[in-house]
Amino acid sequence: KISDELQAMLDAHELLRKFYHHLLVNTKEGQHALEYLLGRGFTHESIEKFQIGYSLNSWDFVYKFLTKRDFSPEWMEKAGLIIKREKDGTYFDRFRDRIMFPIFNRNGNTIAFSGRTLGADEPKYLNSPETAIFNKSKILYNYNLAKPSIKKSQQAVLFEGFADVISADRAGIENGIATMGTSLTDDHIALLRTSAQTITICYDSDKAGIEAAFRAGNHLNDAGFQIKVALMPDGMDPDEYIKKNSPEKFRGEVIGASLTWMAFKILYFRRGKNLQNEGDRLAYIEQIVKEISKLTKAVEKDHYLRQIAAEFSLSLDSLKQQEQQIYFAEK
Ligand code: UTP
Ligand code: MN
Ligand code: MN
Ligand code: MN
Ligand code: MN
Repeated sequence: KISDELQAMLDAHELLRKFYHHLLVNTKEGQHALEYLLGRGFTHESIEKFQIGYSLNSWDFVYKFLTKRDFSPEWMEKAGLIIKREKDGTYFDRFRDRIMFPIFNRNGNTIAFSGRTLGADEPKYLNSPETAIFNKSKILYNYNLAKPSIKKSQQAVLFEGFADVISADRAGIENGIATMGTSLTDDHIALLRTSAQTITICYDSDKAGIEAAFRAGNHLNDAGFQIKVALMPDGMDPDEYIKKNSPEKFRGEVIGASLTWMAFKILYFRRGKNLQNEGDRLAYIEQIVKEISKLTKAVEKDHYLRQIAAEFSLSLDSLKQQEQQIYFAEK
């Protein structure tokens, strides 16, 4: 049995999730937020499934809502829902005039929120702080709903943002998950290990996303997962791609055309290099051969060495020799 304090934190989140959702879907106050979401391509179905809501433009609505129901302000502050003013000890609401994404744990309890601004305020997404019921480094957004589909296929698709998970779900990809604006931790990896063998990384195709995909991929690769990387054109993110193109195109030309981990690294190490330049070219070949030496399957090694040999008109023998040198040097 959990303590009264933890139970109160969970109860307050549950109540607020329902109320935020009601405000978005049924009230005049939430209408501009609903229009914003529909304008972005969110559907009523997704709004229901992900229990999206809206927090009022008020400094004390949540404070009053909770204290009227006998929730202790001290506990609600610890739950991250209200914030104490230093000067006079009064409280104000953390989330104001934001689109509210409830964060669920594996059992489907609401344990936190992330609130997106409707305008240009910073931060774009305001998250609950770390609390006794919410640990960002252990939570994967949508894992509770995605788990059956992940288990069945032994595959998960890892996105950067909530909007991407939700759009992909609308496009028929139900095994999507996301971290909460942090990099992938050992706890996330331990959780994924219980349900998947293959992870398709589908981060934003901008510089930050590609760097993050490289780091996440290395981490997952070291943990023994099979990795694929799905890329989109011109710095787009999955949500934008689906809106601009179609669910079918996303499934076929992005997820369906995912690169192997090695193929992604080949692209990754090429970025910013001028392969017409001899120095760049040799540095690139050395880097790739080093990556090839880490592969465990002889057939894969052979495949990629031949690819490099053909592209740069090198002898396969000399590449193989270099691969072996690196392999034994690194051992
Ligand atoms: P992005 O900046 O790519 O946002 O951040 P997005 O998911 O595309 O959001 P939209 O489409 O503009 O609504 C990716 C993720 O990083 C976290 C969030 O989890 C977000 O989904 N993030 C981003 C934050 O936690 N805080 C921020 O201020 C921004
Ligand atoms: Mn509803
Ligand atoms: Mn991004
Ligand atoms: Mn994005
Ligand atoms: Mn986006």
